[in-house]
Parts: sequence; structure tokens; C-alpha cells
Amino acid sequence: MAVALVLAAGLGERLGLGCPKALAELAGRPLWRHSVDALGAVPAIERIVLATPPGQDADAFAPSMPAGVIAVPGGAVRSESVRLALAAAGAGGGDSLVLVHDAARPLLTAEIVQATLAAAARDGVDAAIAATPVTDTIKQANGDGVVLRTLDRSGLWSIQTPQVFRHAALERALDVSVEVLAEATDDAWLVERMGGSVVIVPSPRENMKVTTPLDLNLAELLLARRDERVLG
Ligand code: CTP
Ligand code: MG
Repeated sequence: MAVALVLAAGLGERLGLGCPKALAELAGRPLWRHSVDALGAVPAIERIVLATPPGQDADAFAPSMPAGVIAVPGGAVRSESVRLALAAAGAGGGDSLVLVHDAARPLLTAEIVQATLAAAARDGVDAAIAATPVTDTIKQANGDGVVLRTLDRSGLWSIQTPQVFRHAALERALDVSVEVLAEATDDAWLVERMGGSVVIVPSPRENMKVTTPLDLNLAELLLARRDERVLG
């Protein structure tokens, strides 16, 4: 069994709707609801905690909150939201599993959830993270835009959520200064920097992140195609 933390406390500035990104409507449901519904369909997930934007916005999530989902105000930076959600989760401690997912990835499926949970449950693993192989050529350039080198793409992964952790490892990794939390672009890095073992779980590119208006349109199209497949 595992608890799931869904991060929805960001402002969504790059989406630019004038409201938190998680409240943006996607195929008739707010963005955050897609992730909560996908997680709710997995029997191994015993509890879901939703980090909402600090301030009055929490009420905006209430009308469509499914029974049993705990909403808590998030923090100023993403990993702080993780820390606050974890504290509210009453998770099992020790080796029990905690899944962290960004509400900004609404195309989450039960298969991805199950695969990351299974990988994290293996012996000696502190964290298992969804990722997709890098398909673009990646070059490093200096501040003037002059290319310094082309990186070897094999072995490079584009990291997604969900990321599943052993409770004790995540709690220890998050027990750092606000400055270190602010530096973290994902939670697995916090585990890596204390020497933890982090493994990749291959995940489809469809588990995309909604950042800009283009992404919201793409997510809408992908969802429509998925529903067609299920219904047709
Ligand atoms: N997030 C969070 N708490 C924060 C910042 C971000 O819970 N203090 C969550 C967001 O809600 C999102 C995920 O972390 O689901 C990834 O962040 P990002 O895509 O950057 O979302 P926003 O911060 O909302 O967007 P922006 O940076 O454009 O304002
Ligand atoms: Mg952000």
C-alpha cells in the first residue's frame, strides 16, 4: 500500500490564465482532477493528499473534491509543497511507499502508477522515477550561444512524475534548508544528493507536462484520442 501526494500548489504563470494552473479546465474537468482520478483507480493507493496554492485558492478546489482526498496548502517552492503534503499524509513510515505526482501531468495512467510502485518496492531501491528517453540531440553552449559540445544522447532520460519513494528516504531527503529545496527541480535529486539509489521506470511521452497554452491543447487532443480508443 502507498500514499500519493498530488502537487497542485503552483501559480501557473507560464500558462497565463490568471488562475492556478491546476484549476485550468481540461476535457470538462479541472487539471488536478485527472491525476486524482487516475490515482484513485489504483487499489494500492490508500490515501491521496492534494497540495493546493497557499492562500484563499484552496476553496476553489473544494466543489469537486472526491471523498477521502485531503487538501493542504502547499509552499512557496515545489519541494516545500511536497514536505507539507507528506506531513499531512500520515504515511506509514520506514519502508512504506510515497508516490509524488505533479497535477501538471494530467495524462497519468494506472499502468504508469503500478510500474513505478513496483520498481520502488524492489530491494535496495530508495526511489523509482518515471522517465522517457531523450529524442532530441542535446548540445551544451556557453553564454554567447557558442556550442561547446554535443552530449551522447544514449543514456539520457527526460524525467517525469510519478516518482515513488521509500517514506524514510524521502523524509530524510526533504529535511534540508529552504535554499536546497528551492534548488531541487525534482525530488529524486534530493535523494541522489544523500547517496540514495534512484532507478528509472520507462514511461510514455504521452505522460507530458502542461506548462504553456500549447501543452494544454496537446493534452486535450491526446485525451480525446485516448477516450476514443476506450469507447470505440
Ligand atoms: N507546484 C507546487 N508548489 C509550488 C510550485 C509548484 O505544488 N510551490 C506544483 C505545480 O502545481 C505543478 C508542479 O509542481 O503541478 C510542477 O510545477 P510547474 O509546472 O512549474 O507549475 P507552476 O509552478 O504552477 O507553473 P509556473 O512555473 O509556470 O508558474
Ligand atoms: Mg513553477
